[in-house]
Amino acid sequence: MNTEQLIRTFVEYYEDHGHRRITGSTLLPPPGDPVLFTTSGMHPLTPYLEGRPHPLGRRLVNVQRCLRTTDLDEVGDSTHLTVFEMLGTWSLGDYEGPQSLDWGYRLLTEGLGVDPGLLHTTVFGGDDQVGPDVSSLRLWQERGVPVEETVEDNWWSNGPVGPCGPDSEIFLWTGDTPPRSTPTRDDRWVEVWNHVMMRHRRLDDGSLVPLPQRNVDTGLGLERLASLLQGRPSVFECDVFEPWRRLVPALWPLDEPSLRLVCDHLRSAVVVVGDGVRPANTGQGYVLRRLLRRVLTVLWREDPSRGLGDLPGELVSHTLGHFRQGGTEPVRRLLLEEERRFRRLLERGRKVLARPRFRGPLGEEDFHYLHDTHGLPRELVTSLREE
Ligand code: ALA
Repeated sequence: MNTEQLIRTFVEYYEDHGHRRITGSTLLPPPGDPVLFTTSGMHPLTPYLEGRPHPLGRRLVNVQRCLRTTDLDEVGDSTHLTVFEMLGTWSLGDYEGPQSLDWGYRLLTEGLGVDPGLLHTTVFGGDDQVGPDVSSLRLWQERGVPVEETVEDNWWSNGPVGPCGPDSEIFLWTGDTPPRSTPTRDDRWVEVWNHVMMRHRRLDDGSLVPLPQRNVDTGLGLERLASLLQGRPSVFECDVFEPWRRLVPALWPLDEPSLRLVCDHLRSAVVVVGDGVRPANTGQGYVLRRLLRRVLTVLWREDPSRGLGDLPGELVSHTLGHFRQGGTEPVRRLLLEEERRFRRLLERGRKVLARPRFRGPLGEEDFHYLHDTHGLPRELVTSLREE
């Protein structure tokens, strides 16, 4: 089953259960939002989780593109991507957690053919503010699915304050032995679907107050589930990356970790540009800049003549097409311009750092001077000194 079929099966299943499909937002959160990028499907729905009536009702389903910079260092393993898509469902003060978990279980096992024997779940075991999630625990016990109780791992929030709640996560076994152990003890259990009982709001002082309604917010990682259903060992081998794996190794011979980083970061950069972000030294533009600089650093480590000008247009247009964005040529031009700028910056950086003043250990003042006078960010200075 490819990702398009998976999306269709998911959305139709929830439509059959009274959900209305809403259009996912771009990666850019609404103005005034403290977070740089949309990090989860619930993010654009925050006002409705807090009680505002949604024009399409109390049961919603969608596909939302998300970007997580917190996962940046994990990119390259078999399950994390910088930009990924989340299939999401919501009960806005309608049905409760056990109903959500039951539908999730049925869709995975009956609709998508996952062997129930390969599932494990976790639930919130309670802390000094909120009691254990007994109704989720009972649901899993009734279905005969093994369940583990945790505390921090089963509490979900989108930031230090705002809507939050206990969650129940569904894991799929990926080992080549029969399933063993539990999700917290064996990372061959891969989390695929999180169901959050979003009923609380965290205030500035850390206390919790009830939200005006009891919601359920769920999120399922599309590429992750697709790769598991397709029997692939990593997200980089599901159909979304097919053109990348076909074209990039032929262009730039790279070891597997570098190949994964290059494909993930370039694809993410294209989507970010497609959503209207331009490279900059702060905010969203800086995340974009860092993605591209990491790609170029990896490419140039072995061969400084490599460049984004060689990137096949098919990769850009395939990605923009998937996310229903447009403008392959302007995106390519922007990538090239950013590459030129980085080359110039590196040349200048090498010259400046060759000065006697910068030969020994650098202090805070040096870093400030290099940044403010020469536009050299700290991480770039550090990597140039390691060359
Ligand atoms: N909002 C929840 C998550 O992102 C479903 O895991």
